Amino acid sequence: GDAGWLIAPGDPGRPPAPDVRAHASHKGSYGQVLVVGGAAHMQGAAELAACAALAAGAGKVFVKTLSLGPEHIRRAAEHRRPELMDWPDGSAGRLDDSTAWQDLTLVAGCGAGTALDSAGLLQPLLQHAHRLVLDADGLNSVATNALARQALGSRRARGLQTVLTPHPLEAARLLGHTVGQVQNDRLGAARALSAAFDCTVVLKGSGTLIASPGEPLHLNGSGNAALAGAGTGDVLAGWMGGLWAQQSREAPHEVATRSVARHGEAAQGARAPLRAADLIEQMHALQPPLP
Ligand code: APR
Ligand code: MG
Repeated sequence: GDAGWLIAPGDPGRPPAPDVRAHASHKGSYGQVLVVGGAAHMQGAAELAACAALAAGAGKVFVKTLSLGPEHIRRAAEHRRPELMDWPDGSAGRLDDSTAWQDLTLVAGCGAGTALDSAGLLQPLLQHAHRLVLDADGLNSVATNALARQALGSRRARGLQTVLTPHPLEAARLLGHTVGQVQNDRLGAARALSAAFDCTVVLKGSGTLIASPGEPLHLNGSGNAALAGAGTGDVLAGWMGGLWAQQSREAPHEVATRSVARHGEAAQGARAPLRAADLIEQMHALQPPLP
């Protein structure tokens, strides 16, 4: 693409690692993320995901907040980082063709409440998003919606890629198990979810697992209980989206594994609790400096 004649290190034919920025690159070289989430009283979740996507290096990051009245929207805009863009409502924000979807990496569900489903957005996202990180209430919505379960499970067969990022309770809801059953057999739960929905699954918690069809199960070794605080999961989902937007040809298993590793490394040596906004800064601080 934009790398021109600059030869990036790494295997020929492989996209450069995301921390290698060709000198002649511009923001269009680094992809676009759309975060869909943040219903009333939970706007911070979408905001954290969006800020993490920016910090990971995505070229442009848009936010579509859900179910907000004019007062909420005004307040959300006041508090928003100036780098973020609002995704327009109505016809301006409609994604009509496959190319429009292909250019976006979606992060959906953070702080969404039941709004993804009630706003009629869940099914279009599952049907059309080329790269989808589904988190939090997005997972809860799928768990209770048979059509959505079916749409999610058939995405890979239709060439669409997905990462699910459940914490143990969200995993339990998707599997129809108790949290105890999930935690007593985390490897089995991660594998079962990956098989049921034919996609990459990040089963979060102490010892996060990454399971993907046809890949060996990955157990992440970084991280600690400084991450046990509100919003750190939203940061992980957003970072993943930001990384994936830059490396759209990368396998979701790799994107998820790298993101979980960095998320945990950022907590190493941190004072607990690591507040989510500070976690984003720590993750960014681990990016290698450019010459
Ligand atoms: N060791 C290592 N990692 C941990 C630990 C620990 N002891 N505790 C938490 N983490 C990591 C998890 O692996 C995960 O990446 O912190 C992150 C926590 O993510 P979530 O459980 O999703 O927490 P949060 O972002 O606050 O989201 C909670 O969102 O999921 C919805 O409805 C849910 O209201 C809830 C909110
Ligand atoms: Mg969460």
